[in-house]
Amino acid sequence: MVSSNQVKAENSPHILVLGMGGTIAGLASNPTENPSSYKAGELGIETLLATIQEAIPGHLKLLAQQVANINSRDLCEDLLTLLGNLVMTSLENPAVQGIVITHGTDTIEEAGFFLSATCGKLAEKLGKRVVLTGAMLPANAPQADGPLNLIDALKWAATAPENCPGGVFAIFAGKVCLARDLAKRHTSALNAPLMDSPSSPVGLVNPSWMSRVRAIQKVSGDDLPIPQDLWPWVEILTSHAGARSETIEFLTNKGIQGLVLAGTGLGGFHQAWEEALKLAQDKGIALIKTTRTGAGKIEEESALGLTAGNLCAPRARIALQLALNAAKGDKYLTWQDFFARIAVLPEIG
Ligand code: SIN
Repeated sequence: MVSSNQVKAENSPHILVLGMGGTIAGLASNPTENPSSYKAGELGIETLLATIQEAIPGHLKLLAQQVANINSRDLCEDLLTLLGNLVMTSLENPAVQGIVITHGTDTIEEAGFFLSATCGKLAEKLGKRVVLTGAMLPANAPQADGPLNLIDALKWAATAPENCPGGVFAIFAGKVCLARDLAKRHTSALNAPLMDSPSSPVGLVNPSWMSRVRAIQKVSGDDLPIPQDLWPWVEILTSHAGARSETIEFLTNKGIQGLVLAGTGLGGFHQAWEEALKLAQDKGIALIKTTRTGAGKIEEESALGLTAGNLCAPRARIALQLALNAAKGDKYLTWQDFFARIAVLPEIG
């Protein structure tokens, strides 16, 4: 199990700031000429906070904890478990008013979806905000976006509970969204992680957006348990011209527990997969259908697999892992019941 450094107990009200690494903590060797050539996860969370010290409202007390300092493409499931457990226990701590997480943007959608599905209801009930943010440019780039994102995240996490709903959110480039909607859609745009998010309002936040958030929260189901040991093995397969059945047969024989199928268009997949997928499903392998197009809904039901609604493949994969894990410990509900609870939700309009 990955371990995080411990912080001293703090009993006075504060915002907890958890550092996970990413570009926001990255350094370029030649930031002026070539800011996109850099190493992620170089600066500690204390250093990131020190650089924005003057912009932090004086009444805000912050407590920083370095959970990891990685390039988020290397995010692993153990680390998600560690982060989820930490967020859950911190939310329950009356001294913690809100939580900010600095994270790499490459897999922030997985972390955001995971935290929403496992701690979202708790945050909502307690009226506390968990806010993820990061950056597209390294910390020493002349136009670095991290400092402003971090200031926005701190302010949003610290806004009085009577004014704003609790829950798990993300902030980039002056915009907020529900963290379950994060999806990185561009290699370099400053708003890449939420540019396609249906839950992003005009401006940072506004009252009509907040009432729509509350409406979505009303219909969303209970939190799912955080996997505490080995997560179910689930892979993503993309359908494409020349797709072959051998990939599916190989994974089926290796003991995979679930497959997320990023199909073409509306979620259809190559006919070469069909027989192998039927056999996989008969063997008890969970199948989820989504689309490789990057946007839009899959609604059509079929005998092979469940549809993932508007979840893109990386989020559908986390949803399936959490559903398989929850069903393992439940006498009455199946993984399909748990999947529907967290994956198929109405979109914020
Ligand atoms: C990462 O995901 O750690 C690197 C990329 C980024 O943060 O934008």
